[in-house]
Amino acid sequence: MTSILLAADAAAIRRAAQLLRAGELVAFPTETVYGLGADATSDAAVARIFAAKGRPRFNPLIVHVPGLAQAERLAAFDERACVAARRFWPGPLSLVLLRRPECSLSLLASAGLDTIALRAPAHPVAQALLRAAGRPIAAPSANRSGRVSPTTAAHVAAELDDRVTLVLDAGPCPVGVESTVLDLTGRVPALLRPGGVTIEQLTEIFGAIETAVPGEDAPRSPGRLPSHYAPGRPLRLDALDARPGEALLAFGPQAPAGFAEVLFLSRSGDLAEAAANLFAMLRRLDRPEFSGIAVMPLPERGLGRAINDRLRRAAALKP
Ligand code: TXA
Ligand code: MG
Repeated sequence: MTSILLAADAAAIRRAAQLLRAGELVAFPTETVYGLGADATSDAAVARIFAAKGRPRFNPLIVHVPGLAQAERLAAFDERACVAARRFWPGPLSLVLLRRPECSLSLLASAGLDTIALRAPAHPVAQALLRAAGRPIAAPSANRSGRVSPTTAAHVAAELDDRVTLVLDAGPCPVGVESTVLDLTGRVPALLRPGGVTIEQLTEIFGAIETAVPGEDAPRSPGRLPSHYAPGRPLRLDALDARPGEALLAFGPQAPAGFAEVLFLSRSGDLAEAAANLFAMLRRLDRPEFSGIAVMPLPERGLGRAINDRLRRAAALKP
């Protein structure tokens, strides 16, 4: 079965919005590239993005909103962030900001970080879709992991085929490169990805910005390392039996006896369900009354690779 491809008229946009609200994946045009959209408030819907892209790890995703009013409910906007949004939104600029404590967004969209990347796209179809969906939409570029970003609906269909329920076609994307990603959580604004808004445009507003965009082996300055969430409790992987005082993240129908508390990533062994639960459950078990968090083995396939990658990193950060 292949996905449905529809010209992005009013009826198609309404249908796309319904599908998004039902937790389905919809590819849609933005002024930069086509995005693979999902309800950003649903862990399960966001997990489907990672599954569809075949990403070997969880990268944080850009969450799309119609404008500043909706964005302010999700993240902390200081004066700088407000200035940037008023100047460049809607448009190809994504702002990395601290999540508000009451933020309704999936922790999986943040890949467990305390920050979130937000953007208000300028494309009229994206705007109409966001307003019709009535909720924030997480959307990475609509390509398989490691491939180039799609700028036409035909590229999307070729890349993702039946992994996306509906593709909205509005012709080629006018900008053609992804949005600029600007981190505003530090003292000095930092460019994390060059894109549709130029460095010159940004320095005009901010003065100096950090532009050391990390390459494959260029070390990032420590202050700019994304502070990936790692639990405060020690993490023990591939656990098959209990140690005193430990909590357990279980996978599969049965958990070994003897743990102080057990949460099931997925009782049915569904890796998408496990991905959806991962960050929220890690946080729930990260409590001082436990000596540590044990995690049962997960298969190294599909989303299991991304889950294991994330768990190994979190475990490595702790002695
Ligand atoms: O133009 C675009 O931005 C497209 C269209 C669809 O809007 N979207 C896009 O999303 O390129 P994605 O998920 O492929 O790109 C996300 C980029 C990555 O480089 C990621 O590292 C960075 O944004 N990013 C997202 N959230 C972040 C966060 N909380 N902290 C640091 N970087 C973040
Ligand atoms: Mg991409």
